[in-house]
Amino acid sequence: MASLRGALRSFGALRHCVSACPFPYKLSGTIRAFAVAASPPSKAVVYEQHGAPDQVVRVVYLPPVELKENDVCVRMLASPINPSDINRIEGVYPVRPPIPAVGGYEGVGQVHSLGSSVSTLSVGDWVIPSPPSFGTWQTYIVKEESAWHKIIKNVPLEYAATIIVNPLTALRMLEDFVNLTSGDAIVQNGATSIVGQCIIQLAKIRGVCSINIIRDRPGSDEVKEKIKKLGADFVCTESQLLLRNVKTILGGIPEPVLGFNCVGGDAASFVLKFLRQGGTMVTYGGMAKKPVSVSTSSFIFKDLALRGFWLQKWMTSDKVGDCRAMIDYLLSLVQSGKLKYELEPVPFNDFSLALDKALGKHGSQPKQYLKKSLLYILHWEH
Ligand SMILES: NC(=O)c1ccc[n+]([C@@H]2O[C@H](COP(=O)([O-])OP(=O)(O)OC[C@H]3O[C@@H](n4cnc5c(N)ncnc54)[C@H](OP(=O)(O)O)[C@@H]3O)[C@@H](O)[C@H]2O)c1
Repeated sequence: MASLRGALRSFGALRHCVSACPFPYKLSGTIRAFAVAASPPSKAVVYEQHGAPDQVVRVVYLPPVELKENDVCVRMLASPINPSDINRIEGVYPVRPPIPAVGGYEGVGQVHSLGSSVSTLSVGDWVIPSPPSFGTWQTYIVKEESAWHKIIKNVPLEYAATIIVNPLTALRMLEDFVNLTSGDAIVQNGATSIVGQCIIQLAKIRGVCSINIIRDRPGSDEVKEKIKKLGADFVCTESQLLLRNVKTILGGIPEPVLGFNCVGGDAASFVLKFLRQGGTMVTYGGMAKKPVSVSTSSFIFKDLALRGFWLQKWMTSDKVGDCRAMIDYLLSLVQSGKLKYELEPVPFNDFSLALDKALGKHGSQPKQYLKKSLLYILHWEH
């Protein structure tokens, strides 16, 4: 690999790279880029058409990009495969980059080189694109200085790479729908998801109890214990809910005022069963790929409200200015051990394996708690 990358630095290899590149690219620009400051060639996971990700993505070398005076070239260190990344490649996500496109939406990198006018960043700083932006599955990215947020270095790489999409979603959903106070309770399905784990921990910090519903699986007792260790007050499987009245389950936990639906289908109706009169359920995921199932009585007798949350839309709101402070807050929780989740690192060279795991090909049923989460880190090897 090292010799291939070395070879790419020669002009001959670069020409080959350009011809293999699916993107429109001006060769004359390349030559100037070498005379002026330019990024190294970038190894990228690209797709030229929408479809099954394991069929349409491929790894290519992209040619160097010229650095303008306000640009920063960042050597990417890690980036996750989130469910929404898969959906964008499939072409079913509402907002997608135009194709051909490089995959990925968030990640962390280290400043590699700077344009002449850059004043707030230095070579070696750790940065994340904020707001997140398409195309993080590549080794080098060039963007304007203002597109990068400098973060602390003493957090594990995998948290820095994943601090926006899931933890920020959990934070916003806890704060933006109902005014929760200490002693309140929330209920959620999909509690094993990374968002779900963040909800449990962020709720705990606020003194808010959490009721957590997971799918049935062999070894569910072990999963329940792990979720409880994160701070969950109550964890149950869907089948337990079919057998017991939710009121008898709650014990001393107050009826939840807010619920989160990650799954859809019947799993949503379990969340609704727990909610108190006038409560709100926020749908943010559709992992079961089935419509949300709501009983008529939920509306008539409980006057429940159904809402939705989408981080990408939130990123276009006037609150986005606070995004970087929220990222710093979430990273501080990671630093102090109050926010944890497990991710499986996969070397970039094993990208197809990482993708297969993210697609559930290595078995999501039964699923080891977190180890087989659909979220995998691409650990770039340069
Ligand atoms: N709206 C937004 O802005 C926003 C932001 C972030 C994430 N999301 C969405 O939130 C969801 C979770 O994301 P994540 O990255 O936290 O997930 P993740 O860590 O990859 O975990 C996936 C979760 O989905 C469950 N799951 C998978 N297939 C399922 C199925 N067929 N039926 C029921 N449950 C299933 C898994 O349960 P098991 O443990 O039982 O396998 C696990 O809890 C995704 O739909 C994602 O797109 C939305």
